[in-house]
Amino acid sequence: MKKHFISVEDISATEIIALLDNAATLRKQEIKINKQLFAANLFFEPSTRTKTSFLVAEKRLGMEQLDFQPELSSMNKGETLYDTVKTFEAIGTDVFIIRHNDDNWAEALIPHVSVPIINAGAGKKDHPTQSLLDAATIYQEFGYFKDLNIVIAGDIKHSRVAHSNAQMLSKLGAKVQVSGAPEFMDEQWEYPYVPIDEAVEIADVLMLLRIQHERHEQDISTTENYLQLFGLTIEREQRMKDRAIVLHPGPVNRGVEIDSTLVEAKRSRIFKQMNNGVFIRMAVLQKQLLKWGIINENHLEKRNETCGRQQIRTV
Ligand code: CP
Repeated sequence: MKKHFISVEDISATEIIALLDNAATLRKQEIKINKQLFAANLFFEPSTRTKTSFLVAEKRLGMEQLDFQPELSSMNKGETLYDTVKTFEAIGTDVFIIRHNDDNWAEALIPHVSVPIINAGAGKKDHPTQSLLDAATIYQEFGYFKDLNIVIAGDIKHSRVAHSNAQMLSKLGAKVQVSGAPEFMDEQWEYPYVPIDEAVEIADVLMLLRIQHERHEQDISTTENYLQLFGLTIEREQRMKDRAIVLHPGPVNRGVEIDSTLVEAKRSRIFKQMNNGVFIRMAVLQKQLLKWGIINENHLEKRNETCGRQQIRTV
């Protein structure tokens, strides 16, 4: 069924594992799409990791990118997001990658856009490709999700990464708990709270989050002593299980949610997450283009040193 890629709610555990497996294949095997395709990367919020890894994923698949800078576009003359997307669609866009600060930006577009839309971040609500790359990083490390203790620590209430990850990792069978300053907890959440001093001892995966100042309705002055009260200090890191890993979606505020030296500690997988993002985004692009009939299996060319160019079937 044709479905845009907007939320973790829209994908099953089986589909998630298939995407992780295909991302692992794409890392090992060069695949190009032998059809001219145009991607529109419409980012209305700052991004380093997500935008760049989508660009690299598109280029690795052989796609072309349409230029878009919101401040130089006709949105400055009053054009809406809806009309901007419809314009790109009319001009020949084959897939949209969109980030916007509105939690629900996708709702108005979903029924009216005839090519796939991939959510690259929606307000405080969803960041499904981030959750996939986090799941890929955990899967590489442990090979399973069932009953893994995963603690998400930080500004839970204002974080789309927390929301998408808690849903995805629970769906995969992990035990998700949350930690952090009381004002950052979301009273709507059913996930158990664990203080950081306990969290570091029980976690197989400790996922830290930055304080999302840009999403606070009023200034919450929690940064003073935040590391000592709620963050990963050197002393806390030393109490973690031998095999436990540390994740962070980035950008990191060194010395606030994590001691600066721990960003590149042995158990940190922070830069590995970013690297996984490229292959996860390739897998999502490929899946969506196939599902929407923009390409078929015959458009996928497998290339490697030994057997040259050949066609493959994909998941
Ligand atoms: N993790 C993440 O979404 O980072 P960027 O804001 O840099 O894309």
